[in-house]
Amino acid sequence: MSKFVALEASIFDADFTLDPYPYLAPLYEREDVLGFSADGMNFCFRFEDCHELISDHRHVAREPVATEETAIQQQAFATQYPTRGWHYQYSLSEVKAKALLNRYLLILLARIELDEVIPVFATLSQSGRHEDYLAEVRLLPMRMLLKAWGFTFSEEQLQRLYDHSVALVKSFDNFDNKRLLQQGEEGMAYTKAYVTEQFNHAAVGTLLKDFAEESRQEGFDDNYAIASLVTFVQSTPNTISVSTAYMLRNILRFKDAVRPLRDNPSLINDNVVMEFLRRDNHVKALSRQVHSPFSLRGYDMQVGDSLYIFYPGINLDPGHWEQPLSLNFQREFTRSNQNIFGGSRYACIGSRIALKYFSQVLPGILQQLPERACILDDEIEVDGDWVAERVITRLPILVP
Ligand code: HEM
Repeated sequence: MSKFVALEASIFDADFTLDPYPYLAPLYEREDVLGFSADGMNFCFRFEDCHELISDHRHVAREPVATEETAIQQQAFATQYPTRGWHYQYSLSEVKAKALLNRYLLILLARIELDEVIPVFATLSQSGRHEDYLAEVRLLPMRMLLKAWGFTFSEEQLQRLYDHSVALVKSFDNFDNKRLLQQGEEGMAYTKAYVTEQFNHAAVGTLLKDFAEESRQEGFDDNYAIASLVTFVQSTPNTISVSTAYMLRNILRFKDAVRPLRDNPSLINDNVVMEFLRRDNHVKALSRQVHSPFSLRGYDMQVGDSLYIFYPGINLDPGHWEQPLSLNFQREFTRSNQNIFGGSRYACIGSRIALKYFSQVLPGILQQLPERACILDDEIEVDGDWVAERVITRLPILVP
C-alpha cells in the first residue's frame, strides 16, 4: 500500500528504538502519508489517527476477522501451541470476569509494599560505574506484585517466571519465528502450571484466595480466573521495569527539567509520571486488524488489512504535543488527550499500579541518584526481537 512509505530503518534497530523521532519528524510533515512500513509491517503513528484506531472498535480490533480461513489457522495454532490456544480462549475475554480482575487490582493497590524497591536504587548513590543494578530492577515489579497477591515463590521460580514471560512477549506478532513461538509456548505452559497450583492452594487471608473464592461464587469457570492471572503475571516483567530504565535515562538526560522535582519531591504526582511515560516507555507497536471498511486520513481501509499502532509516534506527535521532545511537567493529561495506557477495549489493566509504583518510587530514585551521574549512551544495549515492546538490557550509569 503506497499510503505507507518506507521507513529508513528497521524498527528493530537500536537507534530507532532509543530515539525514533529523527526518523518520524519528516513523516509528520507529510499530510499525504498515512504511516510507514518497515520489516514487512505497516504502522500508523500520528496521535489523531491512532486515537481513532484505539477508540473505534466497529472498524478495527486486535483479533483477526472471523472467517473460515482464520478459524482453520487458529485451530492449527492451538493444536501446535495448546497452552497459547487455551490462553487466547480464556484470558480477558469474558467481560464480567475481566471486571472482577479489575476490581481486585484496585484492592491489590493497597497491598503493594515498596520497601524492597528503594534499596536497589540506593547503590546508585555511590561513586563509580553501575551496571548490575538493572538485573535487580528487572525482577522488582514481579517480586512485589506476586507478594501483594499472596503468591509464594522461590528465587529460582521468580527468575524462571521472569524468563518465561519475556519469552512469551517476544513471540507476540512474530508468527514466522518457530523458535520464538516454541519458547513462548513453553513460557505459557510453565506460568499456567505455576498459577494453577497457587490458585488452587492459596492461603487463607491472601488476595489470591479471596479472588479464587469470589470467582467461583460468581459462577466463572476457573479457566477465566487462572488465565487472567496468567496474563497479569506475564505482564509484570516487561512493563514497569523497562519503563524504569527509560525513566532513569531521562532523569539524567533532562537535568534542568527534573531539578524542580529533586528540590521539591512533593511536586511528584500522576501527571509527572505520565509525562515521563509519554516521553519514553516500553510499549512500541501493537497490532490491529480491519473488521469493516472505513476511511482514515482519507485513505480507504479494507476488511482484512492489518496494521500496527506505533505508540512512541502517538506520544511524540508535534501536531499534538508542543515541543514533544522536552520533558514538561506542566502538561495536563486527561482521559481523552492521550493514549499512553492505550484506551477503550484494550486499555491497560496495570495503569493504576504503574502510576502508584512510579509516583512512590520516583522521589526515592531522585534522592539516591546524584545529579552529576550520567548514562554511558554508547554502551546502552536493547534486545531486538520484540515487536510489541523493546527492552533496554544494559544501561550503565557513571557517578563521577
Ligand atoms: C509502565 C507503564 C505501562 C504502560 C505505559 C502500559 C501501556 C499499555 C498500553 C498502551 C496498552 C494497550 C495495548 C493495545 O492497544 O493493544 C496496554 C495494555 C495492557 N497492559 Fe499495560 N502498560 C503499563 C503497565 C502495565 C502493567 C504494570 C501491567 C500488569 C502488571 C500491564 C498489563 C497490561 C495488559 C494485560 C494489557 C492488555 C489489556 C487488554 O487487552 O484488555 N501494563 N498497556
